[in-house]
Amino acid sequence: MPMSWLGYSWKVFVVLFMGGWYLFAGVPALAQGVGNSKLQGAHGDRSAFPKTCRACHRGMSMKISGEEAVCLQCHGDSQDRQLMISRGYLRSTRGGAVVDIDDQLRKPYNHPVLSVRGVHQGLETLPEEVSNAARHSECVDCHEPHVVEKDRPFRGISGRRIGNFMADIDKEYELCYKCHSSSANLPSRATNKHAEFKTTNPSFHPVEGEGRSQYVISLKEPYNEREDTPGDISVITCGSCHGNDDPNGPRGPHGSSYAGLLVQNYEMEDLRPESPYAYALCYNCHDRASILGNESFSYHALHILGNPATNELGTSCFVCHDAHGSTKYQHLIRFDEDVVSPNEDDKLEYRATGVASRHGSCLLNCHDVEHNPKSY
Ligand code: HEC
Ligand code: HEC
Ligand code: HEC
Ligand code: HEC
Ligand code: HEC
Ligand code: HEC
Ligand code: HEC
Repeated sequence: MPMSWLGYSWKVFVVLFMGGWYLFAGVPALAQGVGNSKLQGAHGDRSAFPKTCRACHRGMSMKISGEEAVCLQCHGDSQDRQLMISRGYLRSTRGGAVVDIDDQLRKPYNHPVLSVRGVHQGLETLPEEVSNAARHSECVDCHEPHVVEKDRPFRGISGRRIGNFMADIDKEYELCYKCHSSSANLPSRATNKHAEFKTTNPSFHPVEGEGRSQYVISLKEPYNEREDTPGDISVITCGSCHGNDDPNGPRGPHGSSYAGLLVQNYEMEDLRPESPYAYALCYNCHDRASILGNESFSYHALHILGNPATNELGTSCFVCHDAHGSTKYQHLIRFDEDVVSPNEDDKLEYRATGVASRHGSCLLNCHDVEHNPKSY
C-alpha cells in the first residue's frame, strides 16, 4: 500500500531531522518539494491553505508542539478563524466548512484536551507503560494533521500492536485502546476496555465483532444480532454511545453534557424513577416496552420501576448490567458492588441456565432482600 510506504519514509525523515529542528527553518524549500507530498487529505488542499505548512508551523524554527492551540486557531471560535483568513492561512471560501471543537471541549464531560498541558510528547508510544505518567489527550493523539481526511478522521495514527510492531490503526476502537486498555496509568476506577469487549467473553456489546447472543428480543431496527439483510447493524462502535450530545453538532468524543461523555442520558444511580429520559441511551437500541414488559428478564419491571405500592423507587440498568461487556457472565451481567452485596452464605453470583433460555438465578443481597438463590 502506498500509504504505509509513505508512513515509513516519513518516520525516516523525522529521525533524520528531529535532532536538528533548526534545519526545519530552511523548510520553505522542503515544503514545496518533498514536504508537500507529506501534507495530504483535509489539510493538504492547497486551494484552502495557501501557505501550506505555515498554516500550523510558524516562527523562526517552525518547531511545533502537539498542544491544541495550533488547531483551535481554525477549529475554535469564528473570530479566531477570521483572523487566520485575514492573515492568509485559510482561504475565506473554506472557513465555513470548519467546525468549532473548542466549544465541545468546554462541555462538562470531555476529553481533557484543554485542561492538560505539556504532557504529550511527539513520537511517544501509547499505551503508556509508566504507571505514574500523567494522563493526557491532545488533538494530535487522535488526529494526524498531515494526512487526516474528512471521513477518515484518524487516518495515519499509529497504535495497533502487531507483535513488536506498531501499525496504523484501522478501527475506531483501536484508537481508544491506546489510552483505555492496557495503559499502565489508568485511573483507579477505570477498566481495561479491550478486556471487556473481547469476543471470547461470555457476553459483550458487539464492538470488536458480532455479538454472542442469538436473540436479543428488545433490539430495535436497524440493529440486529447478525447482518442478515443489507442495512442491518450488527456491529456498533464506541461512538454509538460516546460522543456529542448534540446530533447536529461536530461528531466525535470531544465533549457532551451527559455524564460518561455519552450521546444520550443514562442514570447510573440506585433508587431512581424510571422514564424514557432516565435510560435514554439504552432505549435508543432496546425497546422500552419490551424491557418493561418483561419479555426477556421476567423481573425487569419490578427492579427498574420499583414498587409503586410501597413508594419504593427502582434501580438503574447499571446496577446489573455493564454497558461494555462481562468477563464472567452472559447477558452483560456485572453487579454494581456499591449497591449489591454478598448474601449470608457470602455468595455474589449470577447463574444463567443455558443459552437464551430466559431462566437463571441470582445469589446476592440487595436492599436487604436475600437472594439465596432467587430464580426466574
Ligand atoms: C494542520 C496543521 C499542520 C500542518 C498544515 C502541517 N503540520 Fe507538521 N505538525 C503539526 C503538529 C501539530 C505537529 C506536532 C505533532 C506531535 O507533537 O505529535 C507536527 C509535527 C511535524 C513534524 C515532526 C514529526 C511529527 O510528526 O511529530 C514534522 C517533520 C512536520 N510536522 C512537518 C510538516 C511539513 C513539512 C508540513 C508541510 C508540508 C507540515 N508539517 C504541515 C501540524 C501541522
Ligand atoms: C488553517 C486552518 C486550520 C488549522 C490550523 C487546522 N485545521 Fe483542521 N481543517 C481545516 C479545514 C479547512 C478542514 C476541512 C474542512 C472541510 O472542508 O470539511 C479541516 C479538517 C480537519 C479534520 C477532518 C474533519 C473534517 O471536518 O473535514 C480534522 C480531524 C482536523 N481538521 C483536525 C485538525 C487538527 C488536529 C489540527 C491541529 C493539529 C487542525 N485541524 C488544524 C482547517 C484547519
Ligand atoms: C491519547 C489518549 C486517549 C485516547 C486515544 C482516547 N482517550 Fe478517552 N480519555 C483519555 C483521558 C486522559 C481521559 C480522562 C479520564 C482518564 O484519565 O481516563 C479520557 C476520558 C474518557 C471518557 C470518560 C469521560 C467521563 O466524563 O467520564 C470516555 C467515555 C472516553 N475517554 C472515551 C474514549 C473513546 C470512545 C475513545 C476513542 C474514540 C477515546 N476515549 C480515546 C484519553 C484518551
Ligand atoms: C447502539 C445500539 C445499542 C445501545 C445504545 C445499547 N445496546 Fe445493548 N445491544 C445492542 C446490540 C446490537 C446487541 C446484540 C448483541 C448480540 O447479538 O449479542 C445488544 C445486546 C444487549 C444485551 C444482551 C447481551 C447478551 O449477550 O445477551 C444486553 C443485556 C444489553 N444489550 C443491554 C444494554 C444496556 C443496559 C444498554 C444501555 C446502557 C444498551 N444495551 C445500549 C445494541 C445497543
Ligand atoms: C452500548 C453503549 C456503550 C458502548 C458501545 C461503549 N461504551 Fe463506554 N460507557 C458506556 C456507559 C453507559 C458508561 C458509563 C458507565 C460505566 O462506567 O460503565 C461508559 C463508560 C466509559 C468510560 C469511563 C469509565 C471507565 O471505565 O474509564 C470509558 C473510558 C469508556 N466508556 C470507553 C469506551 C470505549 C473505548 C468504547 C469502545 C471500545 C466504549 N466505551 C463503548 C456505554 C458504552
Ligand atoms: C480522544 C480522541 C480525540 C481527541 C482528543 C480529539 N478528537 Fe476530534 N474526533 C475524534 C473522533 C473519534 C472523531 C470522529 C467521530 C466520527 O466520525 O464519528 C473526531 C472528529 C473530529 C472532527 C470532524 C467533526 C465532523 O463532524 O466533521 C474534527 C474537525 C476534529 N475531530 C477536530 C479535533 C480537534 C481540533 C481536536 C483538538 C482540539 C480534537 N479533534 C480532539 C477523536 C478525537
Ligand atoms: C435487577 C437486575 C437487572 C436490572 C436492573 C436490569 N436488568 Fe436487564 N437483564 C437482567 C437479567 C438477569 C437478564 C437476563 C435474562 C435472560 O436470562 O435472558 C437481563 C437481560 C437484558 C437484556 C437482553 C435480553 C433482551 O433483549 O431484553 C437487555 C437488552 C436488558 N436486560 C436491558 C436492560 C435495560 C435497558 C435495563 C434498564 C432500563 C435493565 N436491563 C435493567 C437483569 C437486570
